[in-house]
Amino acid sequence: MKDGHGRTIDYLRISLTDRCNYRCIYCMPEEGVQSMCHTDILRIEEIAHVVRVFSNLGIKSVRLTGGEPLVRKGVVDLVRDINDMPGIKNISLTTNGVLLPRMADQLRQAGLSRVNISLDTLDAEQFHAITRRGYLQEALDGIDAALAAGFDPVKINAVAVRQLHQDYLAFAKLSIDRPLHVRFIEYMPVGESSGANGCGWGPDDVISCEELFEIINRQARAEGLPELVPASKHQPLGWGPARYFEFSGAKGTVGFISPMSRHFCGECNRMRLTADGKLRPCLFSDREYDIRGILRSGKPEEQIDRDLADAFRTAIGAKPDDHDDITGTERRMSQIGG
Ligand code: GTP
Ligand code: 5AD
Ligand code: SF4
Repeated sequence: MKDGHGRTIDYLRISLTDRCNYRCIYCMPEEGVQSMCHTDILRIEEIAHVVRVFSNLGIKSVRLTGGEPLVRKGVVDLVRDINDMPGIKNISLTTNGVLLPRMADQLRQAGLSRVNISLDTLDAEQFHAITRRGYLQEALDGIDAALAAGFDPVKINAVAVRQLHQDYLAFAKLSIDRPLHVRFIEYMPVGESSGANGCGWGPDDVISCEELFEIINRQARAEGLPELVPASKHQPLGWGPARYFEFSGAKGTVGFISPMSRHFCGECNRMRLTADGKLRPCLFSDREYDIRGILRSGKPEEQIDRDLADAFRTAIGAKPDDHDDITGTERRMSQIGG
């Protein structure tokens, strides 16, 4: 289905829960956030219902996000249900990886196609400081489990925050020996975190992908490594906005996601569903359309399906053509799912 700006909308990102076992400094405050009430979040069968209707309207790819999607009970069943829908070609998951050693095989068997794992530093102390709860080894074990279970591609998401002085080259080098696709993401001002309560985003925190690219190449030259060149053979499968490069001869790639320095709204193909059942046409806009109310209206199923389809069309019609310089949305990243 096309929106008013000629973009084909075929990708649905679903936040399964706003809860998370970490408290990343750029995403949540130390004390966490007031979790959504149990009855407010969509049940697994309700989510499957929505996906079934939307898949008849052109959604082909579904990504499960959070919070941390693997803390949501029923996630494996949901993957299985979605995998049985003929219109859906790809199911992916964005996770911090902690539960992958336990769950990767079941998820793979249920039909999950690929995973993206969040990891912002390879320094154990810094990892604990960023996540406030986590240990580096958990994420590394998660990556191993994803590769061992046969997911392809496996992508790593690193949010670059200037003050953290992460070792970008060490990250990029993860793509050399194993088929890992390391992506650097520009830090975005989403959620109340832009402001008070200690996680404050500021324009000075953002490192543009262009600058990152130059730093990585400069450091690579200093180590006698080849420079990054546009990825040719190993361009990983994906529906997202990353642009990929590679070190010649590497098994994986290095990608860049630049929502701040280079808006990719012109190529936006997605719609978002929050855990409490709101359809969100744009990450940076708090405009939302109620889906939960439709699901629980008590109307006959065919009418609910028609209402869901109408809401989907209305939300697509409301997709903005670009995001302005918004700093801070009402909802946090952990509630929208990135
Ligand atoms: P694939 O390319 O299909 O693997 O997915 P993806 O890169 O879109 O998914 P992922 O959940 O790993 O997202 C990576 C980063 O890109 C996260 O920080 C997201 O918030 C960000 N991102 C994804 N989609 C959008 C978008 O439409 N707009 C903006 N501004 N950021 C996005
Ligand atoms: N800016 C950029 N990326 C973010 N993520 C969470 N918060 C932000 C932010 N403010 C990332 C997570 C995860 C993905 C879904 O979004 O690290 O990889
Ligand atoms: Fe959890 Fe991801 Fe937010 Fe970190 S960024 S607190 S892992 S939802």
